[in-house]
Amino acid sequence: MPVNPTCPAVVSLILTVAASALVAQEPASAPASRRQPAGHADFGLPRPDAVWAPYHADPAHLLNRLFRAFYLVHAAPAEVAAALPREHGDAADFFVPGWYFGKRAGEATDERWFGGDGRQMPREGFTAAEAAALREDLAAVDGEVVTALQATPRLAVWFQHDLLRMARRLLDTRQNPELLPLLVGAARRVALSRAVLESDALSTFRLADVQARQPELQVARMVELERRSTRLFDAEYVQLWSSVYLAVPETAASGLAPWLTPKGKGEKLASVPIGTQAVLVQGIVALDDEGNACATDVVIEVRTQVLRNRDPLAADNATTTRDGVDFAIWSLERQTLRERGAATSLADFRTVDMESQELFRDYGTRKHTTYAAQCTLCHRRSNGPEEELAGFPVLRSHVSPRPVADPQERRRKAEAEFEKFLAALAKTN
Ligand code: HEC
Repeated sequence: MPVNPTCPAVVSLILTVAASALVAQEPASAPASRRQPAGHADFGLPRPDAVWAPYHADPAHLLNRLFRAFYLVHAAPAEVAAALPREHGDAADFFVPGWYFGKRAGEATDERWFGGDGRQMPREGFTAAEAAALREDLAAVDGEVVTALQATPRLAVWFQHDLLRMARRLLDTRQNPELLPLLVGAARRVALSRAVLESDALSTFRLADVQARQPELQVARMVELERRSTRLFDAEYVQLWSSVYLAVPETAASGLAPWLTPKGKGEKLASVPIGTQAVLVQGIVALDDEGNACATDVVIEVRTQVLRNRDPLAADNATTTRDGVDFAIWSLERQTLRERGAATSLADFRTVDMESQELFRDYGTRKHTTYAAQCTLCHRRSNGPEEELAGFPVLRSHVSPRPVADPQERRRKAEAEFEKFLAALAKTN
């Protein structure tokens, strides 16, 4: 029988085949497909049907199972922010001073999937049954599994980081102490030599590449600052090194000097000029195969900040904070590293939309909110004690910012901090 292409059944068959061909062409990693799209009530959260395969093509692989145990939870948040679109009414009424503080206690109906192949770790601890499964899985991180993982050194560095972050979290939440030696043991088995950890091949980032993603940033004029960091940027607590680069507009005659000179008591800080820009870069501090800390070139997240205006806070002040400060975040997915291998650079990092959502356990409580609201809490320009600084905490006088003495300074500091974490772990054994 000749095929009649106008027959509805045949057309629908052809369409189905065409559609599945399209699906097949789409890279398995298309990050957006694992998260809820813009416009969805849970924009940015993991889709319930998403397949997570960061460490191996087989989603059921041991390393992927461990990843999911650490980075995916189905839980009710402790707090739900008013900044979520479904939690507030009209934008003009909502965006008034303090919008970023609004929240209520989480309830059973707020339960959702949180986490995914990103930076924020939602897990706080494990039930007895989960811990039993985890003990077996952690013990199985050995032999060929380790050899295969180490063939992609950057993935091995990241997997080790996941293990150590989970250990840090359990120290902080005082849960499942029996898992600590197993997490550390697996971290030691996947450790690489110092020669590999220090090789250029690990690099995922060059500062100059920021310009391609955000052309207005003048990275060539930026100065890297050493400063006394808060716990958020202390490798004892986050196992990451962090570098902050900053530039004021060329028109600011005295450059950065007004903020880098020590202040007398009560002396007023100079006002940060409109157009001031910053880049924050964070990379993994690894444990080498001799048990020492090694700050690697595996950068996993880059954040930028620009002061646009000092207009009043309002819905129509079209900036992240609604009072003049804009942010951007690019985050590297583990799966991208696995699939792209050595070719990975900042161009491959996922753009994190500032209106997308996350469970921000890393900042203390399990709070479900938007990136915009979370970042604004600490970086708002107005209604705070230091309005002159316009949401650039690196310029606070008590953190004593100064240009770095050498480009490795922050990394050496992070290694010393990481050693304190190792000492804290050793005490638990
Ligand atoms: C709990 C408070 C807090 C939160 C939440 C927070 N930051 Fe920061 N951020 C800081 C502090 C403090 C510094 C100063 C760096 C240091 O201490 O070493 C900083 C530094 C920065 C810098 C470097 C320039 C500067 O402002 O000094 C950027 C860029 C930045 N943060 C972006 C973000 C983004 C984007 C978010 C949202 C995901 C965010 N921050 C959330 C506290 C916070």
